[in-house]
Amino acid sequence: MKRQNLVVVGAGSTYTIGMIMSLIAEKEQFPLKSITFYDTDADRQEQVAKASEIILKERYPELESFHYTTDKQEAFSNADFVFIQIRTGGLAMREKDEQIPLRYDAVGQETCGPGGMAYGLRSIGDMIQLVNDVRSFSPDAWILNYTNPAAIVAEALRREFPEDNKLLNICDMPAAIMVSYASILGKEVFDLVPEYFGLNHFGWFTKIYDKQGVDHTNTLKRAITEDGFIPEDAEIANDPNWIKTFKQVEQMVTDFPEYLPNTYLQYYLYPSQMVEKEDPANTRARQVINGREKRVHTLADQIIKDGSTENVELEVDIHGRYMVRVAASMAYNNGDIFIVMVENNGTIANLQDDVMVEVPAMITNRGPKPFSVGNISTFYKGLIENQLAYEKLVVDAYEQNSYEKALQALTLNRTVVDVPKARKILDDLIDANKDYWPTLHANKQHAV
Ligand code: G6P
Ligand code: MN
Repeated sequence: MKRQNLVVVGAGSTYTIGMIMSLIAEKEQFPLKSITFYDTDADRQEQVAKASEIILKERYPELESFHYTTDKQEAFSNADFVFIQIRTGGLAMREKDEQIPLRYDAVGQETCGPGGMAYGLRSIGDMIQLVNDVRSFSPDAWILNYTNPAAIVAEALRREFPEDNKLLNICDMPAAIMVSYASILGKEVFDLVPEYFGLNHFGWFTKIYDKQGVDHTNTLKRAITEDGFIPEDAEIANDPNWIKTFKQVEQMVTDFPEYLPNTYLQYYLYPSQMVEKEDPANTRARQVINGREKRVHTLADQIIKDGSTENVELEVDIHGRYMVRVAASMAYNNGDIFIVMVENNGTIANLQDDVMVEVPAMITNRGPKPFSVGNISTFYKGLIENQLAYEKLVVDAYEQNSYEKALQALTLNRTVVDVPKARKILDDLIDANKDYWPTLHANKQHAV
């Protein structure tokens, strides 16, 4: 098996140590020659890198080299795989994305609703730049992108790099949900085979099989509505916010028992409830700053101080494992099935071709080969077409520097609807994102 040179972009992330643990756990499936960290924030990266170096020395002696840099050329030359997980504006801007819509009783969320639009308009430019940078030094590297809001980022990259077939956008949420299914069924997550359709953070499982072909869908629906639904993956299992989110799945399956929903649908189907439960002084970003971020810093500090991992507990989570398994299937042509984002092109038969959908695909060394979904029925089609129009308008707003497109996007979003409300939120977001967004202009042709 050829050993791979891996680059992790946005390596200062709170998820990176979990990713390192996943690379260690999966080293037989995805053997590495080198790991390179890249981040634009040298200090944030250094702490994670120093701790990672110690972990790798103990648990990955086969690795020939590990280093970290803020230099693009050094990072991206000779890469086989590039994992990208950046957050333009950091958690500080995430907090604003969540707080601003709440001022107007609209959902305040990282990737859904106006917060998602704000984050999208920050991410697109950096992501386009990054893909160009990677391509200038490693034209053939596989790029696996986790960067949010993935639906909007994927649409922008689809338009910007139409010929690039070694660029794949993925999200760990379907897999994290499947960890809970696996636990209910007493199985291992990678032994489950999903049927699923939708957009990123906006989809449904239509069936869950195991590798023997046994259909477990009804067992899962019954278990969820009768016994409840909880997060089981190590990273989120004890997190009160994620516990609440998984609990909401019970409600969704009770209201619409046809399919098993992605957790993120809660924001679109129960927006008022979602607003009510929020405390603007303690939205998710604040919880992450006080929770995961502190925890990871303390952990890294301890490892660096001890020069070993003897006094810490390290866990493998689905976020990392999922990315690594997808990468392995590309590297070694395993043909495993994962839910990923691809250009529709008929996969969902009654949706337009030029849209990024999230569906199961066989992952090969020629890229993802999605399985046909066929026609979807009216409720889902209506929801999805509304949402994809919103996503496309956000990318239009970015590309055309258009205030009007951004206003149309927010108006279409189910979490907003009302135009005066959309305008107020948009104006506040423009103000908060001055350092990040392109300048949005009123459309002169339509000037009144
Ligand atoms: C899941 C989603 C990601 C999202 C993350 C937020 O993993 O798939 O897209 O960024 O949850 O988690 P957090 O704990 O930061 O709220
Ligand atoms: Mn996601």
